[in-house]
Amino acid sequence: MEKLSVREARQPEAIGRQAKLQGWIRTRRDSKGGFSFLEVNDGSCLANIQIVADGDLPNYQTEIKQLSAGCSVTICGTVKPSGGKGQVTEIQAKSVQVHGWADPEEFPLQKKRHSFEKLREWAHLRPRTNTFGAVARVRSQLCQSIHSFFHERNFLYVHTPIITASDCEGAGEMFRVTTLDPANTPRTSDGKVDYAQDFFDRPTYLTVSGQLEGEIYATALGKIYTFGPTFRAENSNTSRHLAEFWMVEPEMAFCTLQENMDLAEQFLKHLCGELLSQCGDDLQFFNDRIDDQLLQRLGDVAASEQFERLSYTEAVALLEKSGESFDYPVTWGANLQAEHERYLTEKVLCRPVIVYDYPAAIKPFYMKVNDDQQTVAAMDVLLPGVGEIIGGSQREDRLDVIEAKMKEQGLQPEDYWWYLDLRRFGTVPHAGFGLGLERMVQFVTGMANIRDVIPFPRTPGNAEF
Ligand code: 4AD
Ligand code: MG
Repeated sequence: MEKLSVREARQPEAIGRQAKLQGWIRTRRDSKGGFSFLEVNDGSCLANIQIVADGDLPNYQTEIKQLSAGCSVTICGTVKPSGGKGQVTEIQAKSVQVHGWADPEEFPLQKKRHSFEKLREWAHLRPRTNTFGAVARVRSQLCQSIHSFFHERNFLYVHTPIITASDCEGAGEMFRVTTLDPANTPRTSDGKVDYAQDFFDRPTYLTVSGQLEGEIYATALGKIYTFGPTFRAENSNTSRHLAEFWMVEPEMAFCTLQENMDLAEQFLKHLCGELLSQCGDDLQFFNDRIDDQLLQRLGDVAASEQFERLSYTEAVALLEKSGESFDYPVTWGANLQAEHERYLTEKVLCRPVIVYDYPAAIKPFYMKVNDDQQTVAAMDVLLPGVGEIIGGSQREDRLDVIEAKMKEQGLQPEDYWWYLDLRRFGTVPHAGFGLGLERMVQFVTGMANIRDVIPFPRTPGNAEF
């Protein structure tokens, strides 16, 4: 007998086929006529399939009538047209085999709805709920679309390392990687930790970004992207920060800030457009249950003419004359806070916004210094609901300028000799950006907390599962 997923068995073309379905019971309803309806879900789509189990099945009394939420089953039967609403097909069962029971007294996911906070404590079971199943499918589709976007444009997919000795963002928010014994750390004669005895002969960390190594490949192969987990030991307990998150980072040789912004915009449009065509049912679910503006917003991004583009200086002027009382004051030179970003994209401009040319003093060493000497060729893309989703820049390609910049920011140019070599040998204008995958999943699902869009969130104090 042919195995069908619930998704396949729900299609009208499946009618008449003999099929084997495997999944988990969501509900059982016994009919007065002496038979039962089982709702089975296998994760292949949001919807369940209805199984009709007749009373004359050999295990009807002993097993079928004991089934409850969470039990795992194999059903063999015929796909038939269904008279029920919300479904075209159902399965007339010829056999129902039970693999595993789930004691209703103990299995936490009963019909009653649980808060997302509660479900975080059951991260091992929450993918069996409608919401987390839908998040997982949307996240997976986004990753496929990320790859297809770059593949179609002839970008090479490059794997940058996770363990690194450099701090790309220069913020010192890195997790240390060591095999030294914390209870018995070797010391040098002047009392410092002797990293010469550590695994890599030097201090090493989990990467905060693949950009520096991405630049190496871009300045050889033209257009590349890297896509992987990144780590930040920033102690921010917000709904938009994780200690471990996924970032996709394209990097292009012979590329200006303008072209970088163009690509970022096309990228976001592609992702929203593909999702609308590939994940319609899941998005409709989020629109119904989580955020009733969602489909509208995604459609707007996919179809929008051009994102609003304004310089940091213009953004500050807009915020200053807004009359809003922000928690953090707005002054030229200060970083834009989440509240400022969201005000710009949600209240004033009401669409995606790209802010560019930020003050040099608040940005990392690698960004290209503009002719005004005060600002750098940086850009952030802001989206309604999430704020900053993309950060990027044109890179400083002048050796003397970048060396001076590193010293200014307390970095040792010797430690980055290989990065500086890219400026020494055949330097080119180049640019790139990073998109935080989880913030993108938040944007396309409307999920309020970033902990609910990654399977196993890592945040201060949390590393269960
Ligand atoms: O703006 P960021 O720090 O930029 C970089 O790391 C650059 N090296 C990227 C590049 O140019 N190649 O981070 C990029 C994006 C942010 O816009 C945000 O979406 C996401 O990564 N991000 C986080 N997402 C979740 N939790 C955190 N703690 C994040 N920090 C940044
Ligand atoms: Mg940023």
